[in-house]
Amino acid sequence: MSEHAGKPPVVIVKDQTKITSGAEVQDKLISAARIFSDLLKPTFGPRGLDKMLYKTDGSTAITNDGAKIIAELMVKHPAAKMMVSMGNSQEEACGDGVTSTLLLCGALLQEASTLLRKGLHPLTLVDGYHTALAAAGEQMDADTLGVSDERLLAVAETALRGKGAEAALDHFSPIIVEALTTLAANRDDAGAEHVAMFKTGTGGLRDSRLVHGVIVNRRVLMDSLPNRLSDVKVAVLGGDLKIRSMTRDAEIQITSADQLDSFVDAEQARKDALAEAVMTSGAQVVLCAGEVDRDILHRLADEDILTVGELDASEIRNAADAVGANIVDSILDIEAADLGACGSMLWERREATDQVEDIIRIEECANPRVVTIEVGGGGETATEEIIRGLHDALRATSLALASGELLPGGGSIHARMAHAVRRASESEPGRARLAMDAYARALETIPATLVENSGGDALDRVLELRAAAREDDGFVGITPDGSVGTADGVWHPRAVIEEGLEAATETAMSMLRIDQVISARGD
Ligand SMILES: Nc1ncnc2c1ncn2[C@@H]1O[C@H](COP(=O)(O)OP(=O)(O)O)[C@@H](O)[C@H]1O
Ligand SMILES: [Mg+2]
Repeated sequence: MSEHAGKPPVVIVKDQTKITSGAEVQDKLISAARIFSDLLKPTFGPRGLDKMLYKTDGSTAITNDGAKIIAELMVKHPAAKMMVSMGNSQEEACGDGVTSTLLLCGALLQEASTLLRKGLHPLTLVDGYHTALAAAGEQMDADTLGVSDERLLAVAETALRGKGAEAALDHFSPIIVEALTTLAANRDDAGAEHVAMFKTGTGGLRDSRLVHGVIVNRRVLMDSLPNRLSDVKVAVLGGDLKIRSMTRDAEIQITSADQLDSFVDAEQARKDALAEAVMTSGAQVVLCAGEVDRDILHRLADEDILTVGELDASEIRNAADAVGANIVDSILDIEAADLGACGSMLWERREATDQVEDIIRIEECANPRVVTIEVGGGGETATEEIIRGLHDALRATSLALASGELLPGGGSIHARMAHAVRRASESEPGRARLAMDAYARALETIPATLVENSGGDALDRVLELRAAAREDDGFVGITPDGSVGTADGVWHPRAVIEEGLEAATETAMSMLRIDQVISARGD
């Protein structure tokens, strides 16, 4: 006889539902965190290696970018999903520091697991972590520095380190700074979203350059269209450059040759009106979102006017912002004030390839509100990774430019925050002190991982950093060769460090508050 005889158990969930409680929950969450950390650790920092991602659709990507790696993983585990969404919000907010954030969160959870096993209550841990974050924040306040031209370049360099673009670091960092400072002169919201990327597909990385304008890939409709124009006015058209076709099916009965002539003449006159509207506007380049009528194209070509049609909405917007034009829907409405200008327009046909597109460069715009980085180098996969690196660097540099607040990298600020947290823990009488010490050790994961990836001895270097922080020996961090040295020239915008640490702490705390996992799938 079973022990439940006479009183059947109360069943409130389906049979396959599995409920995990207590220490087993923490084990589950923490093992997920560990797998994540182990996966990302080798990619971290200037000596980080890349991952090759091979997707189910057969495409490949090679990347060092934490955001890209987690975006491609098909994560099922709920705890891992929390970490992925944390990584995604860091990417959205700052565009850099995703790997740091995930490593910190993993370390906070691993440290927590040791203390939980010793019998510390999860909420004591949460309290300790909370106090520790505040102490870390005070250290950030104390260490925040302002930007200078030199440091702005260093922010770009720091974000590019360890990425594919590092091969031409000295070439790309000034491009990034110039792109953003050019935009900042012409718009309040200068940022990475106003920097277009164009893959040349030929040459080398060092052929990359900043274009004060836009580049588009489109077939130039006639070989005889004007090329190499300089100092020209540009019209940007949001619609077609053709006469409107009849919207209804109409049948026109023509009974004499005269009638046919006058019908054809009338159509021609309407086309002429459009062509003349372009000519009187003074535009020498017409960029058009819709179709371009052949007759109008020829007519304009005779006047040395280049017309490019079928541009995407984003290309039209970027072009208008670059040349300083208003987008008009119909050319008949155009006024002189709607035109933009560029210093140089040239297009180039690539004979050697089977591409049916030409490269059209609209450059040397005086006050561009959109600029383009033309990225040289063949190899699609490699160029994609370069562009991801440039994007991170643009995001980080624009944050630095906008906020004017920097913190030292290379593990320096994290080691200093660890020291501040330890100092604060001394005045904590209760058990939360243990949690604060754990927090300080978790912060040291950043310098420790940098050392490991450089092949050094993490324990010794971290102890050296602790001593330096105790002595308040300036900004000392891990150099790319794995030794301890000044972190001069390694700068991050404060937001990247601060928001990353906050997100990591909050995610770890919310995982620690979980006491049961109820899985409807039974895993
Ligand atoms: N020249 C350098 N010397 C030492 N550390 C560096 C250098 N450049 C970057 N780092 C460090 O590398 C880390 C960033 O590595 P990265 O792989 O880009 O990860 P994340 O996704 O967190 O940005 C930061 O801690 C940064 O300070
Ligand atoms: Mg980075």
